[in-house]
Amino acid sequence: MSIQHYLRFTDLSAEEYGWLFRRAAIIKRRFKAYEKYHPLADRTLAMIFEKASTRTRVSFEAGMYQLGGSVVHLTTGDSQLGRAEPIEDTARVISRMVDLVMIRTFGQDKIERFASHSRVPVINGLTNEFHPCQILADLFTFLEHRGLDADGVPDPAALQGKVVAWVGDGNNMANTWLQAAELLGFTVHLSTPSGYEVDQSVPGVRSCASYKVFKDPKDACRGAHLVTTDVWTSMGYEAENDARRKAFADWCVDSSMMGVASRDALFMHCLPAHRGEEVQADVIDGPQSVVWDEAENRMHVQKALMEYLLLGRVD
Ligand code: CP
Ligand code: NVA
Repeated sequence: MSIQHYLRFTDLSAEEYGWLFRRAAIIKRRFKAYEKYHPLADRTLAMIFEKASTRTRVSFEAGMYQLGGSVVHLTTGDSQLGRAEPIEDTARVISRMVDLVMIRTFGQDKIERFASHSRVPVINGLTNEFHPCQILADLFTFLEHRGLDADGVPDPAALQGKVVAWVGDGNNMANTWLQAAELLGFTVHLSTPSGYEVDQSVPGVRSCASYKVFKDPKDACRGAHLVTTDVWTSMGYEAENDARRKAFADWCVDSSMMGVASRDALFMHCLPAHRGEEVQADVIDGPQSVVWDEAENRMHVQKALMEYLLLGRVD
């Protein structure tokens, strides 16, 4: 039987996303009502972090415990990964002992190599190229606020024709937004400083017909239903910090950008945020911002994802 991994946003179909959004809403409702739900009793999740994390660590760990399972946490520094054990060998060993693996690492190639030697599903918890769990949470959050059907169920059809403005770096988040747009039928308005465009060699980015590029970030925001941004310097690129500060100075989401967006536009940021750099405080702390729902929803959607990868469609 082939193993279902979640390494890129495109690893699931639009129809599977519809299922996941519905499950996440049910799982969230049960959690809020303090209902016990332990479908993953006796299952173990290994989490491997080669980069720092707050949200990803807590959301996967708390989520797995809430589903009745347990968690093993490894970092480069405290495992043999930091002492050059091949990723393929690590995958063979760990996947004989646990039921599911989540990895945050540098190159996408590393997680793909791990997955191809794993006996159990592997989830991408962020690579240099992609951050699919975050976009899963962002879309769920958008639907909670702007796309519930008459029965209060998140309806991905509400994404059709919507415009998401991406202001900032052409990074892992931007790449993943592009993959999601193509799959789910919305458009991304992309504005990045020159030299920081999305990398056309990243699979799925070159082929994507669902984005338009704007020189001026304000033009990207015009009419957008969601405005979103991210740090100027992603993890692993710290050596470029000074150059990036200069290059990105005009790519700070402020009230003038939100002012040209659709009247009911939302603001999102995957966090951690730097007020006064990529976003002004009055935007991230203002009424259009849904960043705290967005962060919380990481846990609910990932619980739905773990349930789906391990048990399939349960009710
Ligand atoms: N958004 C996100 O992935 O946050 P962490 O880096 O804290 O996990
Ligand atoms: N683009 C950022 C996201 C952090 C959650 C990074 O890769 O550091």
